[in-house]
Amino acid sequence: MERTKIVDLLRRTDFGAAVTVKGWVRTRRDSKAVHFIALNDGSTIRNIQIVADAEKFDESLLKLITTGACLSVEGTLVESQGAGQASEIQATSIDVLGTCAPDYPMQKKGQSFEFMRQHGHMRLRTNTFGAVMRIRHHMAMAIHTYFHEHGYFYFHTPLITASDAEGAGQMFQVTTKDLANLRPGEDGKIDYSDDFFGKQTSLTVSGQLEGELGATALGAIYTFGPTFRAENSNTPRHLAEFWMIEPEVAFIDLNDLMDIEEDFIKYCVNWALEHCQDDLEFLNKMIDKTLLARLQSVVGTEFIRLDYTEGIRILEEAVAAGQKFEFPVSWGMDLASEHERYLVEQHFKRPVIMSGYPKEIKAFYMKLNPDGKTVQGTDVLFPQIGEIIGGSVREESYEKLMEQIEERHIPMKDMWWYLDTRRFGTCPHGGFGLGFERLMLFVTGMQNIRDVIPFPRTPKSAEF
Ligand code: 4AD
Ligand code: MG
Repeated sequence: MERTKIVDLLRRTDFGAAVTVKGWVRTRRDSKAVHFIALNDGSTIRNIQIVADAEKFDESLLKLITTGACLSVEGTLVESQGAGQASEIQATSIDVLGTCAPDYPMQKKGQSFEFMRQHGHMRLRTNTFGAVMRIRHHMAMAIHTYFHEHGYFYFHTPLITASDAEGAGQMFQVTTKDLANLRPGEDGKIDYSDDFFGKQTSLTVSGQLEGELGATALGAIYTFGPTFRAENSNTPRHLAEFWMIEPEVAFIDLNDLMDIEEDFIKYCVNWALEHCQDDLEFLNKMIDKTLLARLQSVVGTEFIRLDYTEGIRILEEAVAAGQKFEFPVSWGMDLASEHERYLVEQHFKRPVIMSGYPKEIKAFYMKLNPDGKTVQGTDVLFPQIGEIIGGSVREESYEKLMEQIEERHIPMKDMWWYLDTRRFGTCPHGGFGLGFERLMLFVTGMQNIRDVIPFPRTPKSAEF
């Protein structure tokens, strides 16, 4: 008989129907006459209760039905007498597809996330990780749907690149050179002309530069793909391999950009509320009791738009009034997470879009303001997360962009193709990058970025 997914089965009320379900045993409870098996197939956070009469099944079969074992169950869909579920299956036959060895790591409830990371290959079978991964899927669908509906084209930028888009030098090299046999030239440098690509290449830190080529041809594009950063930051918000969404749009200004950022992120959060109800309720109960309220509040409030200079003034006032920060506050500094969170969580109590940063702390491609000191860069700052989006209006003037490139000693030979956008029909444009896992942190209420991606990559850790 054809298998029914548990998510579909739980919606059915045609009691008396013969059904087949397949899944993994979450728990088993025994009384003298009956065995109750909670089965989960990953299609929903909810389990289906299997009722197996002791007299109908062999002791030798029942012995194999342990937590983690995989079963195929045929039976009758019946209205449940017990509390906690509307329906259950009265089993007529049980087939053990896979027994579960006694050292199955996910047996006990309430294991720590640290323990689960160490057994990351099996943690997907837990309630929490099932919920997180289903939400992750729905968030990806939200993102594609948003951009598709708003006329953006999904644009694929390369993962292997010869340029450092952010100019931050945090790249993983890609090479086929024999590392045991590297011979530096007389100048001490490695000659890459005989390497696979004939030049030094790395994994991309951002698809933005190629995205700008797309936007200045197609009008509006977005990327959604893996991004790599060799920053040695062992924090709950950084991954060495993360997924980034980078829309890039022609003919927009700073206000348009901030409008898109706010509209897009609200759309995604609202999508979660509409499509992930069961999983969010589970996380709200088990992980973070303020989660649902926080999600609803973000959808319903206008974000604060705050100039960097004004933000520094607020922080300085807070310090004068006794607020303690680890890092001192002064105009020109890059905000630390503690400063961002103070503004968002304590001062404004809602998301903040900050703009007008000093040019020295931002990337070379951001549009310079008439003051010559600040740029039209924006960061969207979120409660609990800090920076969730970074974006900017791009410098469209060839001359001004060249000045920035020279000031920062960025090697020109790598940049000619990017500069050509400013030589051949340049136009005002801008875009931003959303860290997918930062969005996932916010939407799930999980505390550590390693727990919102199936297989995290962080310093000294590339298991599974
Ligand atoms: O602020 P970032 O570095 O901006 C860019 O890469 C631009 N090229 C984006 C653009 O304008 N098209 O990164 C963008 C976002 C951050 O706000 C953060 O959410 C996320 O990417 N991010 C990370 N997420 C997880 N782990 C890391 N190591 C991250 N680094 C950045
Ligand atoms: Mg940033």
